[in-house]
Amino acid sequence: MGARNHVAATGDAMIGAWTVGEQTTEELLAGLPIPAPVIGAHPGVYSPSVDSALLCRAVLGELDRRRLDGRAETTVLELCAGSGIASICAALVGATVTAVDDTAEALAAIDGNATANGVAVTGLLTDVRALPASVTADVVIANPPYIPAPPTASAGHAWDAGDDGRDVLDAIIDALPARVRPGGGVLLVQSDVCGVDQTVHRLDLVGFSAAIVDEVPLAFGPVMASRAEWLEQHGFIAPGQRTERLVVTRAVRDAEV
Ligand SMILES: C[S@@+](CC[C@H](N)C(=O)[O-])C[C@H]1O[C@@H](n2cnc3c(N)ncnc32)[C@H](O)[C@@H]1O
Repeated sequence: MGARNHVAATGDAMIGAWTVGEQTTEELLAGLPIPAPVIGAHPGVYSPSVDSALLCRAVLGELDRRRLDGRAETTVLELCAGSGIASICAALVGATVTAVDDTAEALAAIDGNATANGVAVTGLLTDVRALPASVTADVVIANPPYIPAPPTASAGHAWDAGDDGRDVLDAIIDALPARVRPGGGVLLVQSDVCGVDQTVHRLDLVGFSAAIVDEVPLAFGPVMASRAEWLEQHGFIAPGQRTERLVVTRAVRDAEV
């Protein structure tokens, strides 16, 4: 979540112009196997960025694999859905999709963006820690907040994730056994700054085998740059480090490896 071009004082205006190497978010989205969904501007909602584009790419690949395996009917659950762009990608290729976020602004955006793209996505307003028991899916995906936040950080609900960057990610991983249907899979996007090994280990603890399936290097943007010294002092990055890797981890239940 590094190369943000700007962050509004209220923390709600999020970018679409990060770069991955030479690639912008728009270029990544243009490289998807389907036309990228049209996403409107929704104040207070995370605008599709590089990490969003990685999740779109990952879920489209996963759904294509399932289709080739003869599993055409797929349900997708997106946690921390924001604008709903990854959910809409999944719906555009035929999945039945539920998109969860804990802000009313995101739910309104998901609804509006799904309609604008001619698909149905069921929105669910809840914290990922309070999902109803009935919410399960074949494929669970998430690009959650994952930036370690100093105690003095002003609220960045879409990206700040506690003092280790893992508050939401770990809550999602812990919920997976009850959410992923037999034969299903998981796709998680995060920065390596908050620990990819920790993600793989925690997935293992809850009975899932995981592997990194996509990653891109990214220069720090303003949020990461503004707290780089704090990140150095707390061991999240090496002295002088000003880049991160965005990583997509795919997981399946151990018994299904
Ligand atoms: C980094 S944004 C990602 C949005 C979208 N998935 C994307 O890739 O563009 C994270 C989203 O998680 C939501 N969120 C943060 N904490 C949450 C929680 N505990 N439960 C549900 N949603 C949460 C935020 O409102 C925000 O929309």
